[in-house]
Amino acid sequence: MKILVTGGAGYIGSHTCVELLNENYDVVVLDNLSNSSEESLFRVKNITGKSLEFYKADLLNKKQILAVFSEHKIDGVIHFAGLKAVGESVSIPLKYFHNNITGTLNLLAVMNDFNVKNIVFSSSATVYGDPASLPIKEEFPLSATNPYGRTKLMIEEILQDLYHSDKNWNIALLRYFNPMGAHKSGEIGEDPCGIPNNLMPYISQVAIGLLPQVSVFGNDYDTPDGTGVRDFIHVVDLALGHIKTLPKLFTNPGLVIYNLGTGIGYSVLEIIKGFEAASNKKIPYKIVDRRPGDIAACWADPTKAKEELGWKANKTLADMCKDTWNWQKNNPNGYGESL
Ligand code: NAD
Ligand code: UFG
Repeated sequence: MKILVTGGAGYIGSHTCVELLNENYDVVVLDNLSNSSEESLFRVKNITGKSLEFYKADLLNKKQILAVFSEHKIDGVIHFAGLKAVGESVSIPLKYFHNNITGTLNLLAVMNDFNVKNIVFSSSATVYGDPASLPIKEEFPLSATNPYGRTKLMIEEILQDLYHSDKNWNIALLRYFNPMGAHKSGEIGEDPCGIPNNLMPYISQVAIGLLPQVSVFGNDYDTPDGTGVRDFIHVVDLALGHIKTLPKLFTNPGLVIYNLGTGIGYSVLEIIKGFEAASNKKIPYKIVDRRPGDIAACWADPTKAKEELGWKANKTLADMCKDTWNWQKNNPNGYGESL
């Protein structure tokens, strides 16, 4: 069975490629390397001892997508490729709409032409906006609070319309909560460009000495310690969620939606403490103003994925912190020069 992985050189994509190869899928990666490095794919091959095909190609270039489908008989697509920085999406929304939506439309058009109608889409907990209650279930109301989130919501709607027009499509919308951690080998991990926006890469860059201290965005939320609470999920658990989704997709389920989260919320201060324990380093931090657009708390009800996919996140906060630190200390500059 051959799977096309768009965005496969990126953080979640590279971890998913490892698990796909471990399960003996044939893997073709399409990535324009706009936020990643081919080095991640060399390392995927090292970890698994298996090879994959890589196309440096852009979803905005339909001819390049056509070339991949002409050269391979693809059975299904896992579609990770997209831009994901929330703040940047507010400053340059047109770039986000063009890249994420036009890129997806190009991909879907080529899939349709080649009669490849099985797709897993990387959606996000951001589509729930500021939830009225917790934990979050898949049927909760949806809304977007920034252009990045709107691209996720719009793509979900496009995929719903596509399915309603042609019931031969099988579509899984996977709504990820907050991925962190790295492969236990320390060979692949998250390698953000510039100063990280997200909590975990920021903490690990403080631990390694690249940044002086963590700014904790607000301690006056209605949460146990006043700091934001999120459902942090180990990236390998997340990758395994895709492995459990594929067989489901090949049973012709139509359009299905799953939360991929742990069901547990940890606060920013709990994450800092967890990282201190894993790294044996003091993480200096200061409390600053809330970050505009942040919500107080967010965690999943992952029951549906457990019941219908037989998937459940197994790794602990200690695993996530230990594996992030292992990646960071082995690769203080991430994938280095090649980025
Ligand atoms: P990432 O930036 O590491 O990976 C995305 C990959 O897509 C990169 O390798 C990038 O080069 C590639 N890409 C972007 N635009 C492309 C285009 N036009 N053509 C070809 N390749 C392109 O991000 P990630 O954290 O691995 O996220 C993967 C997916 O999961 C994204 O769609 C993201 O929005 C979604 N997601 C991520 C998170 C998170 O916190 N990391 C949470 C929820 C959802
Ligand atoms: N935080 C800090 N300091 C930082 C960074 C973050 O205190 O330097 C706090 C935030 O205020 C929040 C928590 O840490 O309370 C998590 O923030 P992240 O930026 O790591 O993650 P978000 O929950 O804001 O958003 C992330 C992705 C979104 C995705 C969402 C759900 O950035 O794209 O998870 O999957 F939609």
